[in-house]
Amino acid sequence: MYKVVAPMAGITDASFLNKVIPYGFNVATLGGYSLDQPTIDASRKIIERGRKEFDFPVNEIFTHIEDEVNSIKNLHDDVKVSANVRATTPQPIVEVGNIPNLDIVEINCHCRQEEILAIGCGQEMLNRDDLSDFISQVVDNVESEVSVKIRANVEGIDTLKTASLIEDAGADYLHIDAMKKGADADWELLTEICNNVNIKVIGNNSVNSRSNLEKMIETGVDGFSIARSVISGNLDFDISNF
Ligand SMILES: Cc1cc2nc3c(=O)[nH]c(=O)nc-3n(C[C@H](O)[C@H](O)[C@H](O)COP(=O)(O)O)c2cc1C
Repeated sequence: MYKVVAPMAGITDASFLNKVIPYGFNVATLGGYSLDQPTIDASRKIIERGRKEFDFPVNEIFTHIEDEVNSIKNLHDDVKVSANVRATTPQPIVEVGNIPNLDIVEINCHCRQEEILAIGCGQEMLNRDDLSDFISQVVDNVESEVSVKIRANVEGIDTLKTASLIEDAGADYLHIDAMKKGADADWELLTEICNNVNIKVIGNNSVNSRSNLEKMIETGVDGFSIARSVISGNLDFDISNF
């Protein structure tokens, strides 16, 4: 079972991840990082209105990620390290996917901050006609595995079709925030996806108690990820037995 620390921009750096991995995680996600000038400019606008973001210039971001990967591997060489990234083109994502010791590059098709959506990134990637080609270009040119992080139930998007597209494009993992308005995660949709795709599915959202973790696992996912419940660094339910 993949037990993943989900990305949180401005929070999930190596020092944070090194502190929370011992709660039982076997995959640690760095980022989200913005990799090219349009996404970096968008991140800066987000920071200006008071939200946390990582902020590194183009000429520093790749060596920064490499250093962060090594900081985790030096302490936890049995843990897979993933980097969640945003860019307007595949090329900088390919560069991250070829960082030595990085296990997984994760294409962020999830973020819904309006500055990121305005440049066609994050969740807006799901509306791109060339999404399949974008993912394939990354898959075909990196040494690492590739994950694609999406949000479920986005208006106008068929989540199951998108999951199949991501599988067909050759990605190794579908990381899905199964968000459902007014409820915990959309367990039914996750079950439907797990029954209809062969790509490894990492289920995300509302894993904040043992009972929700059990519900998540019952959907048939290959792994689960947790964001908000790890912020305190004090998970009050044990993930090590799953
Ligand atoms: C402060 C914060 C920052 C986040 N930043 C990112 C990000 O950079 N990339 C991403 O894919 N998801 C990001 N997320 C979404 C989480 O990874 C996760 O999908 C979401 O919080 C639902 O999972 P949870 O119920 O375990 O918190 C962020 C969430 C929070 C709370």
